Amino acid sequence: MKAKVTIGRDKVISKVDNRIYSSFIEHLGRAVYGGIYEPEHETADDMGFRQDVMELVKELKVPMVRYPGGNFVSGYNWEDGTGDKSKRPRKLELAWNSIETNEVGIDEFQEWSKRASSDIMMAVNLGTRGADDARNLVEYCNSKTDTYYADMRRKNGFEEPFGIKLWCLGNEMDGDWQIGTKRAHEYARLACETGKLMKMVDPSIELVACGSSSPLMDSFGKWEETVLREAYDHVDYLSLHSYYGNPDDNSQEYMGSAVVMDRFIKDVIAICDKVKAEKKSEKSIMLSFDEWNVWFHSHEQDKKQEPWQVAPPLLEDMYNLEDAIVVGDLMITLLKNSDRVKVACLAQLVNVIAPIMTVTGGGVWKQTIFYPFKYTSLNGRGTALKAEIDCERFTEGKAVDIPVVDAVAVVSDDETEISVFAVNRKLDEAAEIGLNLEGFDGYELTEHISMEGEDLKAGNSIDEPEKVVPVNKSVDGSIVLAGGSWNYLKFKKLA
Ligand code: AHR
Repeated sequence: MKAKVTIGRDKVISKVDNRIYSSFIEHLGRAVYGGIYEPEHETADDMGFRQDVMELVKELKVPMVRYPGGNFVSGYNWEDGTGDKSKRPRKLELAWNSIETNEVGIDEFQEWSKRASSDIMMAVNLGTRGADDARNLVEYCNSKTDTYYADMRRKNGFEEPFGIKLWCLGNEMDGDWQIGTKRAHEYARLACETGKLMKMVDPSIELVACGSSSPLMDSFGKWEETVLREAYDHVDYLSLHSYYGNPDDNSQEYMGSAVVMDRFIKDVIAICDKVKAEKKSEKSIMLSFDEWNVWFHSHEQDKKQEPWQVAPPLLEDMYNLEDAIVVGDLMITLLKNSDRVKVACLAQLVNVIAPIMTVTGGGVWKQTIFYPFKYTSLNGRGTALKAEIDCERFTEGKAVDIPVVDAVAVVSDDETEISVFAVNRKLDEAAEIGLNLEGFDGYELTEHISMEGEDLKAGNSIDEPEKVVPVNKSVDGSIVLAGGSWNYLKFKKLA
């Protein structure tokens, strides 16, 4: 099969906000305890952070990490994770039926983030708590004043504020699984008033209001409208969450996932702009896709977990090659929408639906999805350019009229490099690409890396950590995207 891809210098989507390469650490399963933090581990640093994990986090160049949840945040008292560790309470954690020891809290996590060269996207509890606790937390984290919560931070050993710029007003507040679920009008009022107070404490912060917890919610659309009508002037972003999967084991249908994500993003933009028009506002609400990934492999196994354990192995999806192709394709979609998607968090980062896995007390290894994330995060910085594509389409199950090839380009700020990210969604047929870089003279293909292989179900593990790794392809002759593959093509300007 042949496909034509034209990338034009004048087809600018947007300057890419690097925060679309963010991720997420929740107090859930082994993300924190046995993941980023394990004081007894042989690689632990002075604060108990695993350095073998830290190295892999740095390899992904994650600019920001959302914390501390997720569903966890809706029952969390942030004060429990501050001050003298020996006095911190051990508590029942109702979101994940676990025990939270509170050995790690914002005091430690802000230090981990610094060491990981990453910022924090902090979520406040709007499930069991409200505006008062949220504004106190902003004071604790960000204020220089000689006042109660800023002084409490100083007493705990942190003279300098943490300087957290981006804040989530709760998490998935429409879901009936959420601690303290709200109806749209309840959440809208609460988010508005909480956001107002938080910005009074620190006017430099930015706020994310919760959108629906998935496009499949019955309330999707109405929820977004209600929240924005109430809180438009006080918030900067609206959140999107969506997880993809192949529960029916139809791999060809699964390859259509990115088109589903694209529709979701377009629908949310339409709602934001409808409210903008109604309000005659100058401001556009930007999107924060702060939970996205593949998540389905661990569903059955998680139902068997005994309750009330510390750091039980929850949501430990073992990813395979087809998941990596889908994750790479989802990242292409985020870039294609980078004019409105300014923040995105791969959910999550370590052990919990994660690219990085650990053995508690043992080693680390990279899941298949580590690679498309890494290549896109490292090379997808600069200005995103639209790719015009002439190709065949396929229909399989619920995936209807899906373009076989999709792509997007990012030109680096100094224009020395053009990175093209491309996918061939047709599993049984290679695609030969006629690639035209319009308006870019003197660029040469210097690297072609691909996630491809015979066995779509192959994955990595601690025993076989390199079973599925990127393939280095020839850069001579025509560009061929293997049947069922995600690809990274680097073009360099000749000297
Ligand atoms: O990322 C796992 C969970 O998925 C989060 O806690 C929640 O927000 C979502 O339902």
